[in-house]
Amino acid sequence: MVSRVIPVDPFDLVIFGGTGDLAQRKILPALFHRFCAGQWPEDAQIIGAARSDLTTDAFRQIVAESLRRDAPRRAENTEALDGFLQRLDYVALDAMSAEGWPELTGRLTKDRIRAFYFSVGPRLFGPLADQIRSHGMVSDQTRIVVEKPFGHDLHSARGLNSTLAAHFDEGQIYRIDHYLGKETVQNLMAVRFGNMLFEPLWNSQYVDHIQITVAETVGVDGREEYYERAGAMRDMMQNHLMQLLCLIAMEPPAKFDPDAVRDEKLKVIRALDPVEPHHIVRGQFATGEGEPGYREVVNNPRSTTESYVALKAHVSNWRWAGTPFYLRTGKRLVARSSVINVQFKDAPHSIFGEAAGRHANALSIRLQPNEGITLKVTIKEPGPGGMRLIDVPLDMSFADALGPENQDPPDAYERLVMDVIRGNQTLFMRGDEVEAAWAWTDPIIDGWQARGDVPKPYDSGSTGPGDAELLMKRDGRRWQGIKP
Ligand code: BG6
Repeated sequence: MVSRVIPVDPFDLVIFGGTGDLAQRKILPALFHRFCAGQWPEDAQIIGAARSDLTTDAFRQIVAESLRRDAPRRAENTEALDGFLQRLDYVALDAMSAEGWPELTGRLTKDRIRAFYFSVGPRLFGPLADQIRSHGMVSDQTRIVVEKPFGHDLHSARGLNSTLAAHFDEGQIYRIDHYLGKETVQNLMAVRFGNMLFEPLWNSQYVDHIQITVAETVGVDGREEYYERAGAMRDMMQNHLMQLLCLIAMEPPAKFDPDAVRDEKLKVIRALDPVEPHHIVRGQFATGEGEPGYREVVNNPRSTTESYVALKAHVSNWRWAGTPFYLRTGKRLVARSSVINVQFKDAPHSIFGEAAGRHANALSIRLQPNEGITLKVTIKEPGPGGMRLIDVPLDMSFADALGPENQDPPDAYERLVMDVIRGNQTLFMRGDEVEAAWAWTDPIIDGWQARGDVPKPYDSGSTGPGDAELLMKRDGRRWQGIKP
């Protein structure tokens, strides 16, 4: 099964921060892949913009090197690589002065889609928005793209939202959470709303609890300064895990359109109860496997930033009252594994008697790696000697089911950048959603600060702090293993 490529309309895409890490590692390789897939129209162009005084040729050289590093297989095709580089232009400009802006205005094409990607720190959002507006670059076809972190707390997120709202309509603002661009994350919606099988059982009457795990093996190297200020709660929980929770818990939207989907996600976030302090575990990785611990990495022997967080959340609405959601994420863990487990309740009555034991179905949705779905079902243990029951997995790996050409799904950024061009906001966060997520997160972080909370150390290469196991054990449950 080969995926269909639907070409987009002609566009100009300006990447502010075009020489920076995100542009070089993610945005440009994603655009290159879509170019190779034939999704670009003939005359689309990308303009890198940054402060460095570079010629267009020098910029192309930098991009070529990045592509050879980050998209080596496709970059081997010199014809494709050259074709892509020809579409790149460069303008040196300064967000804080008039320098470079007339040149940029002159390079844009009239009457076509115009996207401005703010691949820069949030303090430049306001100045860039001002410049774009005052140089007359805003039209009906203008879109702007902003990256996370969208704010540090509710107050700063509100500030950013109002800065952007002064220049652009909400329908022009694309806030990226790259988890929404992942194929398997979108598949959550397909599994839930494309099958009759699951939805009738998808509520507290049948679901005992839900676990969402995003485990990483990487640490924070190279991002020490940002991470020290953020921690796992701001870096992962407030956005990526919250989005996964929304997709699992939301009501079926009437259609797959931006506001219908985002309205339903917002209702979930607003239905979240405040989290009790004893329902949260914070951790920080210690030295292990010959690797330095978090405090050494960030060179702060007294750091109280968490690199791990696990918590129990409640969505207080008719569908989910009484079904806890356990969420955990951490760095330097035993394996890279993002999984959602939906644990169903035991059958109400066992006709096979006590000896058959207690059994319950469970649905695991593996987001990465080894993307797929496993449904645990109960069957009879083969052989004579009475009715003994065992659980077996009905296992479906997407790569096996969909064929080898789908083993390498497009990167999240490929989908998202093309959605910007198409003008489809469904997989982007709306301003009110981001604010609601901060409104839930802030009291948790404020509580830690007020109590002088210190995260529990955990071994690098482990499954996280022991207290996270206790969080489950107290409720008579346990985490599913973290497996690659
Ligand atoms: C980013 C976080 O948003 O997501 C990183 O800032 C994290 O700390 C990354 O490592 C995880 O993304 P992925 O796609 O590798 O799961």
